[in-house]
Amino acid sequence: MALRLGDQAPDFTAATTEGTISLYDYLGDSWGILFSHPKDFTPVCTTELGAFAARKGDFDKRNTKLLGLSVDSVDSHQGWKGDIAETQGTALNFPLIADEDRKVADAYDMIHPNANDTLTVRSVFVIGPDKKVKLTLTYPASTGRNVEEIIRVLDSLQLTAEYKVATPVNWKDGEDVIIVPAVSDDEAKERFPKGFTAVKPYLRTTPQPNR
Ligand code: BEZ
Repeated sequence: MALRLGDQAPDFTAATTEGTISLYDYLGDSWGILFSHPKDFTPVCTTELGAFAARKGDFDKRNTKLLGLSVDSVDSHQGWKGDIAETQGTALNFPLIADEDRKVADAYDMIHPNANDTLTVRSVFVIGPDKKVKLTLTYPASTGRNVEEIIRVLDSLQLTAEYKVATPVNWKDGEDVIIVPAVSDDEAKERFPKGFTAVKPYLRTTPQPNR
């Protein structure tokens, strides 16, 4: 069955471009982003890996480790790395799993047989420091992901894990947030000393509390 939000992220040990990695050891106390690629030496994946690598510093700042996956071999990945560096201007700077036996792809339900019965779709799993699944995204092979959006949702996940807030449509780091309905007005006054605006009794906004 597909992994759902709040489920335990399956641990695994796998060969990668940076040696053998066990997921839980690799993540330690960090957040993690595990994302799959349909195949090595494919054009969209090449652009995605370059874009993730270029933003690695932003993931580091967010205490988040990246882990890519493709079902081809480590040797194949090593050859592809050269192309990524050459064409995208950024060398791969995080591990890429060689999931030749589809063990990880199966555990995370990354193969959707009605789309393609051998290649993975473009899955994204955000895993919290508690090893629970915090977010899933699924794109078809033909549509590349948006790294900005993944950083944006990571900011929301990390903020809402710490404060009793939710983030509104199109929210970006630094913008006002919504106080969750379970918080009374009295509690909100204590929790959010910068104050809040009650647009409706159920729609109360406040400046981002960790800014
Ligand atoms: C790609 O990454 O470019 C790709 C992979 C599989 C199917 C279509 C595109």
